[in-house]
Amino acid sequence: MSSITEHLPMEARKSGPLRGECRIPGDKSISHRSFILGALSVGETRVSGLLEGDDVMRTGAAMRELGAETERLGEGEWRIHGFGTGGFAEPSNVLDFGNSGTGVRLAMGAVSTAPIKAVFTGDESLRSRPMQRIIAPLSEFGATCIGRNGGLLPIMVVGAESPVPASYVSPVASAQVKSAVLLAGLNAPGRTRLIERVPTRDHTERMLAAFGADIEVGETGDGHEISLGGYAELKPQAFSVPRDPSSAAFPVAAALICEGSEIRVPGICVNPTRTGFFATLQEMGASLEFENERIEGGEPVADLRSKFSSLSGVEVPPSRAASMIDEFPILAVVASFAEGTTRMIGIKELRYKETDRISAMARGLESCGIEIEETEDSLAVQGKGAGGAFGGATCRTHFDHRIAMSFMCMGLAAQNPIRIDDCSAISTSFPGFADLMAGLGADISVEPESR
Ligand code: S3P
Repeated sequence: MSSITEHLPMEARKSGPLRGECRIPGDKSISHRSFILGALSVGETRVSGLLEGDDVMRTGAAMRELGAETERLGEGEWRIHGFGTGGFAEPSNVLDFGNSGTGVRLAMGAVSTAPIKAVFTGDESLRSRPMQRIIAPLSEFGATCIGRNGGLLPIMVVGAESPVPASYVSPVASAQVKSAVLLAGLNAPGRTRLIERVPTRDHTERMLAAFGADIEVGETGDGHEISLGGYAELKPQAFSVPRDPSSAAFPVAAALICEGSEIRVPGICVNPTRTGFFATLQEMGASLEFENERIEGGEPVADLRSKFSSLSGVEVPPSRAASMIDEFPILAVVASFAEGTTRMIGIKELRYKETDRISAMARGLESCGIEIEETEDSLAVQGKGAGGAFGGATCRTHFDHRIAMSFMCMGLAAQNPIRIDDCSAISTSFPGFADLMAGLGADISVEPESR
């Protein structure tokens, strides 16, 4: 599935108005955490609306290797029977997380304070991504992580026999690092403390509180502090996963740039640690409305309405980067259809995602006739106004789902069709993307490689 050698091109062509309602799959971050926290509780957790993309299914498979029982009851409906914190069984095989940085980093955190050994790996992209950022804090709990070449996967984690709690100030704005530390702290004595200078998505904190962990969140002079009581007894839960705002970003953006469009996207997670993209779109002049705001499964949720809009370039402040970290590729596409320049600064973390997203977007936009300026930690896009982007290129996705979907959205509004070399990564986070977009009126199709 996550082989980067099987190429399946896809093409998107200028489309008439996008109209209607679309149901986005479940949130990827919450879905990964559902399997992990379900496995760490004693008894039966029931989840509905779970994202069944390749990334999350890998986390489910890893939890089974570690001793949990999982059963699919229907579409997005799962039962997870857990074994309690510290109750992991030593896996008899390597744990392969495919393309998923979230799955592997969170699972390594959870395993690091269990008295077992486990080997973690992933596909070619994941094996090139930095893991030192979690090896450092997990070592503070007493775990040993033996990796390849400066801490790359495959990595063997030798879980601490007698873990100690850690106090860690995260040097990177990363919810994966924070979550790995908190999951490790569940099976250590005393209190684990984590300080993040910039708040990142807080699904782990919300879910740990719902599962009955002793977790406190506050502000200190150094930043946002999370403190967690160890030897936690997590209680199984029944909940539904809200729909993923990072996936909703694609049809929402496509409606903004395709003339005459108006779409409705119900049940989207609008947790404030995830909504920086929507705030940026509104600053650009987007007609974006949030209706029926409510709380579901412990998360704020709303129905979104997005209409074709005339947009202006903006500067996105670095302080907002964490709350829209996965949305910069699609923002770069929206910016191509705005009047003036959009500057995204303080975004170096994008270079460590499924691919170097600053470079992948810069090269693809240039090939579609957009002028860009790229530095080590910024990207500026010179917009051509509504309908102004030329298109007419084949863009390389480097097996990155968000790069693939971004260029497909661009193709719907550009003057000439846009092709991507490979759409197979899309299923890691958004199975059914092309059908969902076609249902709104998008002219998008998979092409046989021979064409
Ligand atoms: C995620 C955190 C972010 C994000 C990823 C999901 C999570 O990664 O990019 O898609 O679920 O914790 P970082 O922690 O590396 O910023």
